[in-house]
Amino acid sequence: MSVDYQAVSWTPEKKRYDKVLLGGVGLYLAAFVGIGVAMNPNETAETHLIRGLGTGAFLLLHVILSIGPLCRLDSRFLPLLYNRRHLGVTMFVLALAHGVFGIIQFHLLGDLNPLVSLLASNTQFSSVAEFPFESLGLGALVILFLMAATSHDFWLHNLSAPVWKSLHMLVYVAYVLLVGHVAFGALQSERNPLLAAMLGLGAFVVVGLHLAAGRKESPGDRTGRDKTRQTGAQEGFVDACALEEIAEDRAQIVCLSGERVAVFRHGGKVSAISNVCQHQNGPLGEGKIVDGCVTCPWHGFQYRPEDGASPPPFTEKVPTFRTKIVGGRVLVDPLPLPAGTYVEPSIIPEEMHA
Ligand code: HEM
Ligand code: FES
Repeated sequence: MSVDYQAVSWTPEKKRYDKVLLGGVGLYLAAFVGIGVAMNPNETAETHLIRGLGTGAFLLLHVILSIGPLCRLDSRFLPLLYNRRHLGVTMFVLALAHGVFGIIQFHLLGDLNPLVSLLASNTQFSSVAEFPFESLGLGALVILFLMAATSHDFWLHNLSAPVWKSLHMLVYVAYVLLVGHVAFGALQSERNPLLAAMLGLGAFVVVGLHLAAGRKESPGDRTGRDKTRQTGAQEGFVDACALEEIAEDRAQIVCLSGERVAVFRHGGKVSAISNVCQHQNGPLGEGKIVDGCVTCPWHGFQYRPEDGASPPPFTEKVPTFRTKIVGGRVLVDPLPLPAGTYVEPSIIPEEMHA
């Protein structure tokens, strides 16, 4: 975090991760082109390179889309999440090279402007075998460009987290466009069923992981909705959890009125803040309190539990919630207070200290 924007710092792990990533991409392309030329000597090395770049980018996109749900299912995948931006930019560079080489090979030699040729030379939208699949690839490439260009935290800060997040959710639109690009393009001429099987398997894995992660989180949400129905029992406060369910310097995440709230226990007190990190919507309730601040488990942004504000000189703020402790239960007012509002923490009675 900085006063203006947060630059997630470089660490030896990140550098090692990038070297492994770039080495892996280089090896994949060399193997793809080498094996392709050996098995299909009739096709040029350029054709194999275009295919290698396209499949490499598409494979990386599957990895990128799987990281979020994998981290929700098992926190051991978190190191992958810290480096997802680098994966994304690498994927875009491969996709761009694939698109540019594709345009050079198939659209540069005619009379038309290559982009006009790509978009207008084939208009057989009602045909499966002749569908203009390249337009779908171009649409996806434009989305991937917007995402790569705004991937730096500078843009996150300037566009605001909700706008940035909505923009980056377009990755799912890009994914659907690319499934169409491959299904209506390469699959129409491919006799080997391997590509079709891999396309199906990839979609199965991406959709399956998202459903599994969604199912893992839904019981909490259901409890939360039940809790919200109890509203009114204590002047609008609702029963969130038992005090003993919260470990010291940790949180319980509850869903109140559709909003996820992280209820933290720290130094004999209880405070509740929004579960959603201002950086990239990381789950604050899965982090712990370090140096008196809630520390996001994804990239380490910090917020004070009592007012949801990042310590100076940082400026990020999350909404806070009023709390009460009654008979060993923690009650929370589900009405979020404006981000950064100070709320007196609830004091844990002496006899209830762990
Ligand atoms: C301007 C944008 C694009 C153009 C002009 C383009 C062009 C092409 C062409 C000509 C093919 C060969 C189809 C065939 O073999 O019948 C192809 C295949 C493919 N493209 Fe694209 N593409 C574009 C964007 C993308 C993007 C953004 C991705 C992925 C991120 C992608 C992934 C693929 C894949 C996975 C294949 C199948 C590879 C194979 O033939 O085995 N393409 N594309
Ligand atoms: S620090 Fe990146 S999401 Fe919280």
